[in-house]
Order: sequence, then structure tokens, then C-alpha cells
Amino acid sequence: MSHPAVVQPGQPVALADGVHWIGALDPQMRRFDIILNTANGTSYNAYAVRGSAGVAVIDTVKIEFADEFFARLEQVARYDEIRVIVLNHLEPDHSGALPELMRRAPNAELVLSNRAPSILRALVRELGTEPEFIAVGDGDCFELGDRRLSFVNTPYLHWPDTQCTWLEDQGMLFSGDVFGCHFCDDRLWNDTVGDFRFSFDYYYHHIMRPFRAHVLEALDKLEPLAPRTILPAHGPILRQDPASYMARYRRLATPELAARSGEKTLLVFYASAYGNTERMARAVAEGAEEVEHLRVSLYDLQVSDVAQFVDLIEEADGLVFGSPTLNADAVKPVWELLSSLTLVSVKGKFGAAFGSYGWSGEAVGLVEDRLRGLKMRVPVKGLKVKLNPTEDDLERCRELGRSLGAHLTGTARKRVIDMAELA
Ligand code: FEO
Repeated sequence: MSHPAVVQPGQPVALADGVHWIGALDPQMRRFDIILNTANGTSYNAYAVRGSAGVAVIDTVKIEFADEFFARLEQVARYDEIRVIVLNHLEPDHSGALPELMRRAPNAELVLSNRAPSILRALVRELGTEPEFIAVGDGDCFELGDRRLSFVNTPYLHWPDTQCTWLEDQGMLFSGDVFGCHFCDDRLWNDTVGDFRFSFDYYYHHIMRPFRAHVLEALDKLEPLAPRTILPAHGPILRQDPASYMARYRRLATPELAARSGEKTLLVFYASAYGNTERMARAVAEGAEEVEHLRVSLYDLQVSDVAQFVDLIEEADGLVFGSPTLNADAVKPVWELLSSLTLVSVKGKFGAAFGSYGWSGEAVGLVEDRLRGLKMRVPVKGLKVKLNPTEDDLERCRELGRSLGAHLTGTARKRVIDMAELA
């Protein structure tokens, strides 16, 4: 059985009594926000909800698709009927048509999350005046006569301003980027489009994953609503088994290792040109292994695919990086791994650096700077050794491992400062 296209040019799509999809399809999109690949494009989902006292517009579209959006909107409402414009998220793929919509519907109230105002001001400068808006938080609502929209703050999914909008009488959750994906299919509903599971997971991993703790906080608020339909801002509308998508988010956001083992984990990564940094790495790991309730893993980055370590790093409590210095810099495999840390949250994890060098030894300091820039804690001074490490050097490496392990497990001795030393 084939499913005909639901989306037709210039036509809105009826989703429920008084609820329409008025967004746009972008089948040519292949790379989104610089970092995301899309296999078949994306969609910018926007919605109109009619109540007895007027119409709400929920989100708009990327500016290039504004004409399509307005054509669909005009099929379901006059501009003077629009009482409220809700922006669940102000990123330009959803706010692109906002300034023009505000111009065409000057009597509409603009509703944003209470974290959005500063972003709004920067986005609508072209209006020339400070836009008026209503900032809402959890439980606030807007009456449309016989139906009500209420709001759920979901900060950092994936911007500070993000929120969801709840239409209780239909059990419809307008979720913004949350539960969305870059998948373009004119059949629109999740039970009629092609298989988009890979895209759903990919979007989570690249957009939501760094905010895992916030994902879990948001799910605690959204799951009790038990929506009958989830209407995200990108990709298919989830009417078949919407709870399974929430469950998928919860599984993806829940750390597994800590729950299983109850231990702290330390990962020691290194690259080594002549074996010196490798010997240091082994000594760091040996020292750390002496610490109770700490599981230590050692990885050679030169023969590894960096991507495979991202899952491990997400769940680890501590990360140590060993790099020789080459041309006054850390080496490429180490930088590759450090650059991939933007995919996950490492804020607050413990970190350290070490490495062998020939004559200058900048790598250790540069890696430490990067760790601090990622808001990791770097409680132990990095260790650099000129060329071949001596037995004393290796013992200092073991001590670095022990000391970092002690910080990780909360057994580090408090530092006692001798005031006489400060005099
Ligand atoms: Fe789809 Fe974060 O914008």
C-alpha cells in the first residue's frame, strides 16, 4: 500500500480539529548548521491552532521559506485573527519569518520562554523598535477562548530559550527541536514516512547530547503529560507511539556505566612518537590503578578511531591526555580527540595532561588550557619530561595518576598551607 503525499504546495495540512501544519519542506538541504549532515533534507514545522477567541501561530520557518509559510497560514487564518505568536525556540530556522509575521499581525502577542528576551532583541533588530513580548515559564498558559496553550520550559534543549507548548484538549505537545530530526518526507506522519530512526538518533547525538542532564530534567516534566501526539519543529510528526520517542531520549541520556559498576572511571589517552610518552602513560595508569574504586583504561590514539571514544568520555569521570610536543604543539590525534569533546558535556570532569618533549614542551600546557576551556577541573599540575623518562620521572607519573585518582574518588588529602611559606 502506498501513502500519497500529505503536504501539497501552498496548502496547510489539517492535523486535528482547528490545528494545522503550516511549515515548509526543504528537500535540498544536505548540511545543517555546519555540523549536521542530512540524508534527504529537512522540514521547518510551524503550526496554527484556532480557538473560539482567535488563532495561535506556533513557530515560523527559515526566512527562505517565508513565502510558503505565509501562503499556508493565509489558508487557515486572517492576520487580524492571530492573537498570539509562540516561539518555542528563536534559532533562525524557526524565527526567520517572525519579523514579517509581527509586521503583518501587529495585534498578536508574542510569547517566548523567560530565557529568550536577550536573544529576541538581537534577532529582530530590523524592526527598529524593541518588540513587546510575554515571557512565560512552567505552567503559564494562554487562553484562546475555548482552548488553552500552556508552556513547559526545557532550557538548553538545545539553546537557553527552548520551551515546549502543550495543547491539552488534543494531547498535543509542540516540542520545538526536542524529538525532532532532519528528515524530509511529504507524508509527514511518523507511521507513513520512510524509516527515520537513524536520523532521530543522529539529531539527538549532535544536538541534544551535550545537554544530557537537561534532557533528563525535561523528560521528568514532559513524560507525565503523556502526549497523544508530539509535534516537533523538524521531521515527522509523532502520532504513533509517541511515548517510544520519549523513552528513546531517556535511554540515550541515561549513563549506563556508573549505574552498573558504582566505580569512578579514568581514561588515559596518549600518542607517542618514540615510546617516551607511552611509558609515561603506562606509569600514570599504574599510579591511578592503586586508587580503590577507580577503573582505569589506557588507549593509544595513533591506532584508534577517535569517534569510538566519545561514548566512553561522556560517561567517564576523569580524562588524562599524553602528548609529545611537535613544532611547539600537541600532536594531531590528541587535538582530534579534544575537538570531539564538544559533542558531549565534559564540564566538571577531572582532567590532566603529560608528555615527553625534545626542547620546548608546550603540548602539556596547551592541553591543560583546552581542558580548562571546556570547564573541566584540572587539580593536578601537568607533567612534562625531556626525552627519555627516568625512573624518577616515571614515579612522578605514577604520583600524577594517584593524585588525580584521589581527586576523582574524593579521597584527596586537603592541602595544608604553611603560612610561613607565604611570607
Ligand atoms: Fe531547529 Fe535549534 O533550531
